[in-house]
Amino acid sequence: MADNDEAAAPYRRANPEGGGEVTHDPRATNPTGNPPSPRPATMNREDGPLKVTGRARYAADHTPARLAHGYLLTSTVAKGTILAMDVPAEAPGVLAVYSPFNPLKLHPYAREENAELTPPIQSPEIRYHGQAIGLVVAETFEQARDAAARVRVRYDTQPPRASFPGGLPAPIGGTPVTDILEPGIGSIDEALTAGAVTVTATYTTPAETHAALEPHATLASWTGDHLTVHTASQGVRLVVDRLSETLGIEADKIHVINPYVGGGFGNKWGMWAHTPLTAAAARALGRPVKTVLTREQTCTVVGHRPFTRQTVSLGAAADGTLVAVKNDGVSSKSASNGFHEPAANLSLILYGSRNLHVSRSAVTLDVPCGTIMRAPQESNGSFALESAMDELAAELGIDPLDLRLKNNTPIRQDNRRPWSGKHLDECYRLGAALFGWPERDPVPGRRVEGDWLVGYGMATATHGASRGQAAIKVRLLSDGTATVSGTAADLGTGQSTVFVMLAADVLGIPAHRITPSLGDSSAPPAANAGGSGSTSTNGPAVLLAAEDATRTLLNLAASHPRSPFAGHRVTYARGTLRGGGIAMPFGAFLTDIETPAVEALATSPRNSSTTHAFRSFGAHFCEVRVHRWTAEPRVTRWVCTVDAGRIVNEKTARSQIAGGIVMGIGQALLENLHLDPSTARFTNATLADYLIPAGPDVPPMDIHFLNHPDTLLSDLGARGIGELGIVGTAAAIANAVHNATGIRVRDLPITPDKLLD
Ligand code: MOS
Repeated sequence: MADNDEAAAPYRRANPEGGGEVTHDPRATNPTGNPPSPRPATMNREDGPLKVTGRARYAADHTPARLAHGYLLTSTVAKGTILAMDVPAEAPGVLAVYSPFNPLKLHPYAREENAELTPPIQSPEIRYHGQAIGLVVAETFEQARDAAARVRVRYDTQPPRASFPGGLPAPIGGTPVTDILEPGIGSIDEALTAGAVTVTATYTTPAETHAALEPHATLASWTGDHLTVHTASQGVRLVVDRLSETLGIEADKIHVINPYVGGGFGNKWGMWAHTPLTAAAARALGRPVKTVLTREQTCTVVGHRPFTRQTVSLGAAADGTLVAVKNDGVSSKSASNGFHEPAANLSLILYGSRNLHVSRSAVTLDVPCGTIMRAPQESNGSFALESAMDELAAELGIDPLDLRLKNNTPIRQDNRRPWSGKHLDECYRLGAALFGWPERDPVPGRRVEGDWLVGYGMATATHGASRGQAAIKVRLLSDGTATVSGTAADLGTGQSTVFVMLAADVLGIPAHRITPSLGDSSAPPAANAGGSGSTSTNGPAVLLAAEDATRTLLNLAASHPRSPFAGHRVTYARGTLRGGGIAMPFGAFLTDIETPAVEALATSPRNSSTTHAFRSFGAHFCEVRVHRWTAEPRVTRWVCTVDAGRIVNEKTARSQIAGGIVMGIGQALLENLHLDPSTARFTNATLADYLIPAGPDVPPMDIHFLNHPDTLLSDLGARGIGELGIVGTAAAIANAVHNATGIRVRDLPITPDKLLD
C-alpha cells in the first residue's frame, strides 16, 4: 500500500519557495510575554506581472467580432411613473432601444441577494433617481451614448422620501429587539441606572459608494441557446443562478467568466440591472453586446452603503466594569430592496456585560438599493460603540486601553459560547507597546507641535469569521506543473496567490509551477469573494484537493501496469515519487506511463461547530494631527495588531488590513455620498466630488499579525482579514481627534467645519 506522510500531514509548512522552512518573526519576542509564533509565509502576487503589464483582461476588455455596445438609460426623477419615452427616430448606428415600452422579457428573481428585488424595465414605475429605465444598443459606445442623451422621458412625478432619519423608523429583521438581562432586572434602562457612570450619545454615518476602480461591465454572447458572459463579479455562480431565473433558461446553458476583478467591496456581489439587460439584448439582436457603466451609474445602479444612526448608552461600575450596554440602531432602507444595516448588532457581542439591549429599525427612502459594503453593519457599528467606549473612559477617568482590557471577554455574550481562539488582550498589549500608547496625554488639547494639535486614539477591530463549503480541483500534469481551480473570485485581494501557496505547500513544488484558475463558473463550486470568508472557506479545500491528488498519484504509481514503482512501497515528497531505489518527478512518471494528468476534486464542509463562536480581532492605535488654524485633520501614524488565525500570505494579508484602514480613513474623514433632500439624487456621484483617501492621506502603518492558528475553525487555521481593517478605524480616528482637540465628532465624516470652534 502506498503511503504519503508528507502530503497527508496537517498544514504546517510556511514557505513554498524556500523548501518548507519555517522562519520566526524577529519581533515575536514581544512585551506581552506570550510565546513567539511562526512568522507567516510571504509571496508576491502571482498575478502581479499580468496586471502591471496590462495583460490581465477584465470584463470590459473583451471585444469579440460583431460586438454591439449597450448604454444604460437612467431615470432623472426619484419617484413616479414614466408616461412616455421619445426615442430619436434616426440615430446613427443604433440597433435597438429597449425600455418599459419596448421591454426585454425578464422573469422575477427568486432571491434578492443584496441587490434589486425586481428585474429592470418590466414596468414604468420609478423608485429612485438613477434607476435603469432602458438600454440603447448601437454599433459603437459613442453612438449608444449619443442616442441615449437624445431620449426624452416624460414622468408623472411624486415627491420622494429622501431625508434620513426623517420619517419614523419601522422595526426590521427577524428579531427587531434583543434584550439579555440579569435575573431580577426588568429593563435595560433599569440596568443602566445601576452603573456608577453612564454615558449616552447618538452617532450617525452617511451613505457611501464603493468607488471600485473597475466600473461594472457585462459582455454577453450567445451560441445557439448557450450564453457566455464576462461580467465584473465577486461570484460567478451567483450570476449564473440569477441569469437562469430571469432569462428563463437552464443554469447549465450559462457560462460566466471573470478571472480578474478591479475591486468590488460588496457591490459586485449581487447581480444588477445591466447584466440581464445586456444578456437579453444580445439574445434579441443575435450579436454580442457589452455594457459598461459610467462612474455616475456605479453610484446608483449597483447599490450603496446605507445611512445609519445609533444611540448608545454604556453603564459601568467605578472600576470600569460594564454593567449595561444599550444600542438603538436605525438604518436607511431603499424602497427597492430589503437591505439595511443592523449596525447595533456589534454591541451585543464585543464586550462583557451582564445586561445588553440592541434594537434594529429602518427608515424607508426612495433612494437606490442599499447593499453590502466592506464590513456591513460592523464598520458603522464599531464607530458608535468604540466612540462610546472612549467617552466612557473619559467619564470614568480610566485609560481607554485599560477600559477595553477590563471588559475583554473569552465568551460571546449573546449565546455564551467561548471564542474559538481569541488573543485580543495580546493585540491590545502588543499594539500599545509598538505604538507608544503610554505616552498619550489623557488631557485633550495639551499636546501641541508647531501649528498642530496632536492626539492619540485607539479602538478594537473585529469581524465575523466563517468557513463555508467549498470544492476545489487540483490537477497534476505530465509537464511537471499543476493547476488549482474553483469558482472563487480574486477581487484584488490575493486569493489566487493563496491558492498557489497552499497547493505548493502540499505538493512540495515551486509556486511558479502552479497555475490557479478562478472566476469561471464551469469550475468546482468554491466560495464567492465576500464576508471575509474566501481563504477560510477555499483554503481548506485547496489543501484537501492537493492531498487527494498526491494520493491518486501514489495509487497510480503503485498499481499502474507500466509503473516503474509497481510492487514497491512508494512515497511522495517535494514533487518526487520514490520507491524500490527509483526517484522520479511526478511529471516524468506521468509521461512515462503516457498519462497526461491525474486530478482530485475535494469538498471541504462548512463549519458546523455548535460549541464555539468565531471571530477575528485586532487593535488599532493612531496618531492624528489637527491644524490649529485650519482645523484640517491628518492621520499621521498607525499601528494595527491582528488576531485572525493563521496568515497564509503575509504580504497580501498586510495589504488587506492596510486597505481596510485606508477605507476607514475615508469613512472617518472624507466619504459622504450626498443625498439631495428635494430630488433624492446623489449629487456627488463622480470621483471628482466623492472624496476617497489618496496617497498623502495615508500614514505609515505598522501592521502586525499574531498568527495563532484557529484550529477549531479548520486544519488550516485561517480566519478572515478582508474586512477586519476597516472595523474600528473611524472610531480610532474620532477618538484621536478628541484627544487632540477636545471636540467629539459623532457624525461622520469628521470635516474641518466640525472642528472649528
Ligand atoms: Mo464584502 S461587503 O463581504 O464584499
